[in-house]
Amino acid sequence: MIPLDRFTSPTLMAGLMILLVIAFPAWALEASQVSSPTPSPIASMGQQDIDAGQRLFRIHCARCHGMLGDGGEGPSLKRARLVHVDDDDELFAVISEGIRGTGMPGVFGPNDQELWQIAGYVRSLGRLPVEEMPGNPERSADLYATRGGCNACHIVNGDGKGVGPELTEVGLRRNLEYLRRSLTNPDADYPMRTDRMSGRINAFLTVQVVGPTGEIEGMRVNEDEFSVQIRDLAGSIHSFDKHTLRSFKKAFGHSLMPGYTTVFSADEVDDLASYLMSLKGSR
Ligand code: HEC
Ligand code: HEC
Repeated sequence: MIPLDRFTSPTLMAGLMILLVIAFPAWALEASQVSSPTPSPIASMGQQDIDAGQRLFRIHCARCHGMLGDGGEGPSLKRARLVHVDDDDELFAVISEGIRGTGMPGVFGPNDQELWQIAGYVRSLGRLPVEEMPGNPERSADLYATRGGCNACHIVNGDGKGVGPELTEVGLRRNLEYLRRSLTNPDADYPMRTDRMSGRINAFLTVQVVGPTGEIEGMRVNEDEFSVQIRDLAGSIHSFDKHTLRSFKKAFGHSLMPGYTTVFSADEVDDLASYLMSLKGSR
């Protein structure tokens, strides 16, 4: 056994103190190295990595962000500044995990190195020239509010009714072609939302029910095994026990939004689509 008094001996204590003083700076240095940011792998990427990133992008991302990254169901990524992303680590996280509560899913398959290559390619897109707007957004106030009556179903900056999706930031979410198509052929698009619990769901599914009080058409707000909630065109919410319904139809591919080809000329559709592209919220 080691005699206890060895630990209280003054020489030993002094020795311990000296050891601590010498060892401390080394330990502190090591800790600071661990927490200091490592440079992003994108900084040292060559063209080969960017090209590999482009190939992966076409497989995993192009169906929403376009073959050239100029958008579609997802936003154009040809922007120097992204909304959800400040630094490269956040870009990596958005690509691997998606953005909760939006139509942006996380990707499955690519390993970390490949994810960085995709991120590198996305960054290279931000250095390309941005999409030019064909129309004149200033002309569209009258088109939107008066002739279009869009306020009846959409909210922009707190104005309007929320039957359809809020449009305050629609210019960040979609590209020009998609918005043009929303106006000319609303049945063609189904805005999606990803949800951790239920995966990708159609956020604006039109449903038609015949219930105890008659027929109602509206948008599905919620649905489970036993009940369904529907928002009608006036904005009122109706809730039904499914077993009380005489008929319950999901109208995939049928939008509540009217098509506007007979209301607007092609130039006016361009003006309005350019206006929608300019709606980028205040983030
Ligand atoms: C199912 C469609 C879909 C797929 C597939 C998809 N995205 Fe997205 N992505 C979206 C949508 C929609 C948004 C906009 C989310 C929002 O803000 O509402 C988005 C947003 C983003 C953003 C954020 C943009 C910003 O301004 O902050 C990045 C970056 C991005 N996506 C990259 C990718 C990459 C890289 C891939 C492939 C690995 C990918 N996405 C696959 C639909 C998709
Ligand atoms: C009767 C209600 C109604 C009216 C009026 C209406 N919309 Fe819509 N809109 C909707 C619904 C519902 C959706 C959801 C997707 C779908 O069903 O097509 C939608 C979708 C959209 C989208 C796609 C949004 C996204 O994120 O994908 C855009 C853009 C849009 N509307 C713009 C307009 C504009 C501009 C007008 C006026 C010219 C207008 N809407 C008039 C109901 C309406």
